[in-house]
Amino acid sequence: MTEIAIKGLAKSYGDTAILENVNAHLADHEFCVVLGPSGAGKTTLLRILLSQEAATRGEVLIDGVPIDPEPQPDRGVVFQRYSVFPHKSVLANVMLGPQLRAAPLLGRLFGARRRAIRERAEALLQEVGLGEHLAKFPAQLSGGMQQRLAIAQALIMEPKVLLLDEPFGALDQSTKKAMHRLILDLWRKNRMTIVMVTHDIGEAFTLATRILMVDKARRDPHAPTAYGSTITEDIRLDPDKKPALHVVDESADESHTMTAIFARYRADAGDCVVDEHPNFQAAG
Ligand SMILES: Nc1ncnc2c1ncn2[C@@H]1O[C@H](COP(=O)(O)OP(=O)(O)OP(=O)(O)O)[C@@H](O)[C@H]1O
Ligand SMILES: [Mg+2]
Repeated sequence: MTEIAIKGLAKSYGDTAILENVNAHLADHEFCVVLGPSGAGKTTLLRILLSQEAATRGEVLIDGVPIDPEPQPDRGVVFQRYSVFPHKSVLANVMLGPQLRAAPLLGRLFGARRRAIRERAEALLQEVGLGEHLAKFPAQLSGGMQQRLAIAQALIMEPKVLLLDEPFGALDQSTKKAMHRLILDLWRKNRMTIVMVTHDIGEAFTLATRILMVDKARRDPHAPTAYGSTITEDIRLDPDKKPALHVVDESADESHTMTAIFARYRADAGDCVVDEHPNFQAAG
């Protein structure tokens, strides 16, 4: 069971409001995709969920308990520009997390415990399709392979919540589709709750059981920093009724705004959408 409750969350930097009145309740095993224009505060929201950033107001609870103010291994993360240890092999990179957890000072383990971690790392790398590349170094991998390495690195810690910040943004379409199949597979198998940020609206409708749009609901032209983003769309999708891939011709939208493109995808998704709160404005 891993439910996430976001209650009355706000974040400001000085006088600049970034997020305000963000409310969402994510069910156990939700695949939540966060959409929103550039600068809306998506990464900020993810960083708050990870405890890398403190909220100005409001709180986040996991299974009813306020999250620890320090990042914890119960919340794994994969960033778009991810950092691995360049001088460690693929296998060593994946083994490092559990080694540090078992022996926090040196990360050195011997014998049976080390062997157990090694076996788990090998199995996981096999699962993400890197079984043939255990001895390679990160610089010898393609972008898609590096993303899969990052995902394996996060998954070996068996996080209850996997946070993904535009993990497939830099990949070509066919690699992206392969990654979509992989992440859906791992999500079902490991029963994690996922929160993933993307710019790609088609990707959101392909993967999500829940889509949140983070955007400004109010704007004051005389004070552009006065209002932060909130949740302007909140829809629930039937996981067994995935809309067809790339159903919408994005170039058909004259305005090209995210809201306009989202509305077309929403219309095409039809009865895949089981519940929605348009222009969601919760009290808080
Ligand atoms: N540490 C910080 N100090 C001051 N301002 C910040 C800080 N971090 C982020 N911001 C500002 O907060 C706003 C939201 O940033 P954030 O990175 O969350 O946006 P985003 O929605 O992830 O955008 P993108 O889609 O481009 O990644 C931006 O205007 C950014 O400049
Ligand atoms: Mg971002």
